[in-house]
Amino acid sequence: MPSKTAKKPAAYKAPSFAKNKEYFLRAAKVIPGAIYGHQTPAITVPGSYPYYATHGEGCYYWDVDGNRYIDYMCAYGPMVTGYGNPIVEAAAQKEFAKGNCYNHPTPLMVELAETLVDQIKFGDWAVFGKNGGDMTTWCTLVAREATGRKKIVMCKGEYHGIGAWCTPGHGGLIEEDRMHIHTFKWNDLAGLRALFDKYPGQIAGVIMTPFHHPAFGDSEMPAPGFWPGVRKLCDDNGAVLILDDVRVGWRLSLDGSNEYFGFQPDLACYCKAIANGYPLSATVGRDSLKNAAANVYLTGSYWNSAAPMAAALANIKLLKKQNGPAHMIKMGERLQHGLVARGKAFGFEMIASGPGSIPFVRFGEESNFMRQQVFCAEVTKRGHFIHPHHNWFLSTCHTEDDIDNTLDAAEEAFKIVKKQFGE
Ligand SMILES: Cc1ncc(COP(=O)(O)O)c(C=O)c1O
Repeated sequence: MPSKTAKKPAAYKAPSFAKNKEYFLRAAKVIPGAIYGHQTPAITVPGSYPYYATHGEGCYYWDVDGNRYIDYMCAYGPMVTGYGNPIVEAAAQKEFAKGNCYNHPTPLMVELAETLVDQIKFGDWAVFGKNGGDMTTWCTLVAREATGRKKIVMCKGEYHGIGAWCTPGHGGLIEEDRMHIHTFKWNDLAGLRALFDKYPGQIAGVIMTPFHHPAFGDSEMPAPGFWPGVRKLCDDNGAVLILDDVRVGWRLSLDGSNEYFGFQPDLACYCKAIANGYPLSATVGRDSLKNAAANVYLTGSYWNSAAPMAAALANIKLLKKQNGPAHMIKMGERLQHGLVARGKAFGFEMIASGPGSIPFVRFGEESNFMRQQVFCAEVTKRGHFIHPHHNWFLSTCHTEDDIDNTLDAAEEAFKIVKKQFGE
């Protein structure tokens, strides 16, 4: 039954996606796949989701048909202090106006490296790229350079980017790309130990996310003793421990997710929450790997640009002032608990996983995601963007009112799912 305390949602009018579809059809003629990667409509619910955005403000954005959404994907992570945040924008725009991209880095790069080294306790140095995958791939090379070994170990089902060594896609790969990549299951220390035993003196590095956040699945936290166990196995076997904090970084702790879970890696990659949507990624590393890092070539046409670094400095300061992770965790937990409670009132057992700042909620007792897809599509059509298969993200702009409005929309969606599928 619907909750008695819920406010009556505004009368529902199905949104038009006419312009979204028009652009998609135009794109299909000139862009392979029209919209590729994880933004493809094929992995949401075709026909129920927007395809093209025009602008955003705070935790809201608008699509080309003028539909407004409270955004629970936050551009798949990069929006963290709000679309068009005036403080971050002012810092970035000042650099754009001056020139932005030069023959050299600007002093902002030094300042940002100093900020990260100060912020991330285990870190002694920092470097910068544009995307998360720039950094994860580079870190595997640093591990190889430092150890003189070939093999990289990763967890099954974890995403580290589109490098040939790790892409979840199949196109264009050759057998040799994965010849030295080995996998074990999340939380399976015995599985990791078995790899070290099978390849003694051959494993250069182990790369993992701070908790397990696969697509099409529940997030899994590290079991007690898991991270200390991984750390010890790496130490005992002379392998580099690489933390891929690209997605989770600074949504759990501004000290880095490793501090939240109580361990220290050798290298950590950051990206999504750094610069509030400006293109920037970073790796922070230990002194012992500084020489190896200097030997692995690292550059890109836009990698020294000033504006994203200015945005990052402003964004980091703001996240600290706002105590960003705590707010995002609190808002996300309100959403998780609310969805579980309101689902229960309709007879559904909802499974909430992941921390509040990067939550995921799905229907229990179904493995085919059919109810989940209908539910998420109905919520999204009501102006609250949630993804059926990928974890969600909170920002520092989400308020209790936003969450409660979304929960009201969720009640409408639960009603539709119940009608269509029964309990
Ligand atoms: C955990 C993780 N690592 C690496 C990446 C790759 O980052 P990018 O898409 O910026 O290259 C992502 C992107 O979603 C990610 O979630």
